[in-house]
Amino acid sequence: MRSVYEALERSDHVVMAAPIYFYNVPAQAKAVIDRTQALWTRKYIRQDSVQQSSAMPDRKGFFIGVGATRGKRLFDGTIQTMRYFFDAIDVKYTGTLVYGEVDEKGAIREHPTAMKECFEAGLEFVGST
Ligand SMILES: Cc1cc2nc3c(=O)[nH]c(=O)nc-3n(C[C@H](O)[C@H](O)[C@H](O)COP(=O)(O)O)c2cc1C
Repeated sequence: MRSVYEALERSDHVVMAAPIYFYNVPAQAKAVIDRTQALWTRKYIRQDSVQQSSAMPDRKGFFIGVGATRGKRLFDGTIQTMRYFFDAIDVKYTGTLVYGEVDEKGAIREHPTAMKECFEAGLEFVGST
């Protein structure tokens, strides 16, 4: 986790991109999120800064997700997780791009809007640094 903490502390922006497994991010991503409890403690218990001074003051967080089904509430739980994850690492949660019915390898490339929307969101991120 040390290198991940360092990256989270010095990044100008943070993007979490993950498929949905059992209505949340996969275990590997969730393990990282869980370990950021250390940063939550630094922020709320020790009332110390999470980010390094070299990072942007108003850094932003974005979540990109895919799932196989098309349930209306497919991403609800994960978005709630993201809210608290970004808050813990002291990043403002500013955007979500999620796509259902994405299952087969490479399927996202066939999606009518996903690639364009993610590219444009990336440009906005770069533009806002
Ligand atoms: C263990 C596992 C759990 C999954 N759980 C869900 C789920 O709860 N809801 C859903 O819509 N899709 C679910 N899926 C489908 C994946 O989100 C979908 O296939 C995705 O495109 C997989 O991305 P990946 O190939 O990068 O793992 C699951 C897939 C796996 C392997």
